[in-house]
Amino acid sequence: MTDQAFVTLATNDSYAKGAMVLGQSLRRHKTSKKLAALIGPQVSEPCQSVLRRIFDEVRLVDVLDSGDTAHLALLKRPELGVTFTKLHCWTLTHYSKCVFMDADTLVLSNIDELFDREELSAAPDPGWPDCFNSGVFVFRPSVETHDKLLQYCTEHGSFDGGDQGVLNGFFSDWATADISKHLPFIYNLSSIAIYTYLPAFKHYGGNAKVVHFLGKTKPWSYGLDAQTKGIFGSAHPSFLLDWWALYSTSVVPMLQEQYGDQPFHSECTLEAMEETLASVAAAVHLSPPAQPQPSSEERKQKWEQGQADYMGTDSFDNIKKKLDTFLK
Ligand code: UDP
Ligand code: GLC
Ligand code: MN
Repeated sequence: MTDQAFVTLATNDSYAKGAMVLGQSLRRHKTSKKLAALIGPQVSEPCQSVLRRIFDEVRLVDVLDSGDTAHLALLKRPELGVTFTKLHCWTLTHYSKCVFMDADTLVLSNIDELFDREELSAAPDPGWPDCFNSGVFVFRPSVETHDKLLQYCTEHGSFDGGDQGVLNGFFSDWATADISKHLPFIYNLSSIAIYTYLPAFKHYGGNAKVVHFLGKTKPWSYGLDAQTKGIFGSAHPSFLLDWWALYSTSVVPMLQEQYGDQPFHSECTLEAMEETLASVAAAVHLSPPAQPQPSSEERKQKWEQGQADYMGTDSFDNIKKKLDTFLK
């Protein structure tokens, strides 16, 4: 389908790396849709080149900032004012329908069926389930809607200082009007939810189609945080491993080509990254949450789809195997 696209946003090189991994995860699961990335002028030339190789369209947009320090302080995320830039996605009117995905999401299986849904479809936010989370949503580009959204911003602002507050204010009947616009949680599994309801995660987590590394600590910042502080944020190590595996195998080689001898890991060195991977693997090994045992056929299928069950039967040996392949 050429008039339908997955759309993401990156205003800087860190989020650009997230966007690259997201794009590769969509390609890997053989999407038939176009891939579009909105970027801000701060994204460096080498990162733009890599994005252009992965995405069908890379569009430079003005960075919009809510400047709403009070609400952002309440959210404890002062950096999220720029998420207003997301609203530009409604201007992509050469597509009839799109799915927006945050740059900190990772696709675990083909999700093209999302295009059967209507605007505005999204999954519940784990913090307040009568709000939708704006990390994954189905929308219809329209200049009229875009103008109305900007108008809404000027008149009402955002209750969280970011795009999610605006969008929930604007599409305010989402919680009550039409259940078909409620995406199942497996299309936006916020890593934060994993530990708040562990039994549900153990029971249903294997069905996840999109993981969202929501929160301050992103997969690309693990080199810093996890390494020095020994923390893993709220993301499950197996999803982190998936992210790092894809980053190392299908993004790092492209970045290396662009940067040549120059270092390109703005936040961590390659060595720190390798050590982090090893400690993530160790963490998985030390505390594998029990999983329902899949049949060997199911496991084989999942493995072939790149969804190995790192937490259960396939755990350490396969993790090691996987790590060995890209740590060489
Ligand atoms: N984003 C960006 N630059 C920033 C902050 C955010 O490009 O400095 C974009 C990016 O696509 C990101 C999305 O806005 O995924 C929402 O921000 P984030 O994912 O950090 O919010 P969270 O999901 O953690 O609440
Ligand atoms: C949320 C969403 C994110 C959004 C942010 C600010 O937590 O996950 O996509 O940008 O809130 O509104
Ligand atoms: Mn996000």
